Amino acid sequence: MAEQMGLLIVGCGYWGVNYVRNFTEMPETRVVALCDQRVERLNELRRRFPEPVLTTDLEEALRLPGVDAVVVCTNATAHYDVARHCLEAGKHVLIEKPMATSTERAQRLVDLAAARRLTLMVGHIFLYNGAVRKIKSYIDEGALGELYYLYARRTNLGPVRFDVNALWDLAPHDISIFNYMLGARPEWVSAVGTQVLHNCREDVGFIVLGYPNKTLGHVHVSWADPLKVREVVVVGSDKRIVFDDLNPLERVRIFDKGIAASPVGPEPTTFEEYHFSIRDGEISSPNIDFGEPLKTQCLHFVECVSQGCPPLSDGHEGLNVVRVMEAVGRSIAQRGAPVELEWEEAEDKPARAVMESSYERRTSTGAVH
Ligand SMILES: NC(=O)c1ccc[n+]([C@@H]2O[C@H](COP(=O)([O-])OP(=O)(O)OC[C@H]3O[C@@H](n4cnc5c(N)ncnc54)[C@H](O)[C@@H]3O)[C@@H](O)[C@H]2O)c1
Repeated sequence: MAEQMGLLIVGCGYWGVNYVRNFTEMPETRVVALCDQRVERLNELRRRFPEPVLTTDLEEALRLPGVDAVVVCTNATAHYDVARHCLEAGKHVLIEKPMATSTERAQRLVDLAAARRLTLMVGHIFLYNGAVRKIKSYIDEGALGELYYLYARRTNLGPVRFDVNALWDLAPHDISIFNYMLGARPEWVSAVGTQVLHNCREDVGFIVLGYPNKTLGHVHVSWADPLKVREVVVVGSDKRIVFDDLNPLERVRIFDKGIAASPVGPEPTTFEEYHFSIRDGEISSPNIDFGEPLKTQCLHFVECVSQGCPPLSDGHEGLNVVRVMEAVGRSIAQRGAPVELEWEEAEDKPARAVMESSYERRTSTGAVH
């Protein structure tokens, strides 16, 4: 690989242009080409980014000299085909969420990347978000006490997509956040959805996720709610923590409040022998080192490719999220019937644990943000 890593960005719409900007600004990378099906979109980009080759032809873009890696930021249903071509052409791939719209396809991408020894990373951006990482550190150090449940709301008026429903569009964010915060995967899911906008796919959804140790997660997504909310709440016996992504002044608030059962006497045998202790303390908002999460994610990709390390949100993590989403779809089809999920032992946990700790070290020394 040359001194600068050469990038091709496929899918340069609303979100893709943020990749173009980040990788253009980064000294470690050079944006070699932009590929989009829409010529008019490429023409718009030409004014802002005069250097890269612009093309509607993926095969042509993949043949250009100096392309080491590809960002796949097309509509979700095109992710698989585009990423497969890129991996087959020997390119490292950073793919947007959801990495594919079926488990089988996501698994094929993971297998292909492993067979070719290529980096496959999924854009689960919240794993690179300072607020989410802070909350995870509180959970890991036991600051919340016993973890009771988590819930997330992602509502707004649209933007309505025409290839996947609101659940596939939005809930992968929250499932990746929950999996990451809890260090676990759900054992079962139950979900309902409705099509209020009559566009043949669910625009409103409610998902319940059953995690180990009876910890419950709930995700509400909607394209039909006039109130824009981007919120994750974690409730424990000692504290409640709120992540409000729309509140830049107080992204994380900690409520030092909670309720817990405390036994009366040495060995209680009935419910009545328990008392409930209520904590009612302060509300605080920690200072968070909040760089642009997408920039952190992009830098992490570059580092993983150049050092051959597994990314924090590697193909396996992306596949886990797709498996949960597929189960969500099965539950919706049965009006909320619980769908069990069985997981094999985590594939390469040690490598990911090493990655996680080195990532922490780099962010705490400011090298990544
Ligand atoms: N991480 C985040 O916070 C975040 C935010 C928004 C969107 N996204 C994800 O980014 C992806 C793109 O979303 P968007 O909002 O930019 O959508 P968009 O519709 O604005 O852009 C998608 C672009 O991909 C192009 N495209 C589609 N198929 C293609 C193909 N086969 N080859 C080349 N170009 C193709 C389209 O012409 C379009 O310009 C989605 O997967 C979405 O879930 C992530």
